[in-house]
Amino acid sequence: MAKHLVTLIPGDGIGPEITSAMRRVVEATGVDIEWDVVEAGADVMDKYGTPLPDHVIESIRKNKVAIKGPITTPVGTGFRSVNVALRKALDLYTNLRPAFSIEGTGARYDNVDLVICRENTEDLYAGIEFEQGTADAAELIQWVEDKGAGTIRPDSGISLKPISVTGSRRIVKFAFDYAIANGRKKVTAVHKANILKHSDGLFLKVAREVAEEYADSGIEFEDYIVDATCMQLVLHPEWWDVLALPNLYGDIVSDLCAGLIGGLGMAPGANIGDECAVFEPVHGSAPKYTGKDMANPTAEILSSVLMLNHLGEREAGERVLRAVRTVLAAGERVTYDIRRTRFGSTDGAVGTQSYADALIEHL
Ligand code: NAI
Repeated sequence: MAKHLVTLIPGDGIGPEITSAMRRVVEATGVDIEWDVVEAGADVMDKYGTPLPDHVIESIRKNKVAIKGPITTPVGTGFRSVNVALRKALDLYTNLRPAFSIEGTGARYDNVDLVICRENTEDLYAGIEFEQGTADAAELIQWVEDKGAGTIRPDSGISLKPISVTGSRRIVKFAFDYAIANGRKKVTAVHKANILKHSDGLFLKVAREVAEEYADSGIEFEDYIVDATCMQLVLHPEWWDVLALPNLYGDIVSDLCAGLIGGLGMAPGANIGDECAVFEPVHGSAPKYTGKDMANPTAEILSSVLMLNHLGEREAGERVLRAVRTVLAAGERVTYDIRRTRFGSTDGAVGTQSYADALIEHL
């Protein structure tokens, strides 16, 4: 039997192309992985009656590790995002998004090396919403008024922002444990506690308690207001190390950080819970590039580096990362997006698979 069993969800749009490039690169390292390939998304709706069939969840539960391509969330079909459903079903409460500079991407900065730990299950993304004009919205507005909690305009739509002790505690703990395991020095809790006293204020209070528990770890702790964080990230990206954020800020700040390092094609990610981990790039299915062998598979391949580290295959992960650095630094066999950012023209770009071939040659 193979040493590692990994669930592979190719996804749709550019997903099948970039996951096939990723798989070839990982296999070329010689790491012994058996892939359990399962499909999810709109394409399996007819066959299984759901975009996220039970056997997909079961495969991940059994193997504990999965890697996926992006999956499109069709507009107007009624089903919610498969990605969100997967995170919920497996309680993948941390969205890990490292952002580090790689020479040759044409990015604005060359000194970024930080890690976003975004809470993945609550906050404004909990999906608890009341549509403007409905009886439920009117009832809630009246209830708030009756409680003396404030006045909400009657023509408002409302989204709730629940932040719990449980959710805050485990994301900040994750950030500290990650910092220790990966030789990091500092954890910063990011919030807007000066305004949102009972949600972000709670997050900050819990973060401080957790930091107390890690006082002997040697990891420094600080907290920062989210708007100031955005400004300082752009001014001094080198200041930052590990950031722990509630869901909404984590989503926004991690895209900002993807921008610091050259864009979405470069940004890897992982969704991690206590039992399972699902690795995937930050970007979506880029439908306009589907089937064109043009998309940049780097984010997917860097996600596989995170996966290899998670599997304890650090040496293989290092080799893949080194190959990415070498091929991007040379800038000759890279995809259109990298050529455009670095040289201002897509001339001379190679396709997805040809770029993967270059990586394999440099492993
Ligand atoms: P997107 O990330 O697919 O595309 C944004 C822009 O970046 C587009 O111009 C796209 O062509 C470009 N791009 C993205 N990845 C690229 C790559 N690897 N190489 C070169 N260019 C790349 O975001 P968009 O358009 O908002 O979403 C498209 C679909 O993907 C939607 O249905 C969305 O719900 C889904 N999505 C899925 C995610 C997942 O599976 N985890 C995450 C984000 C979006």
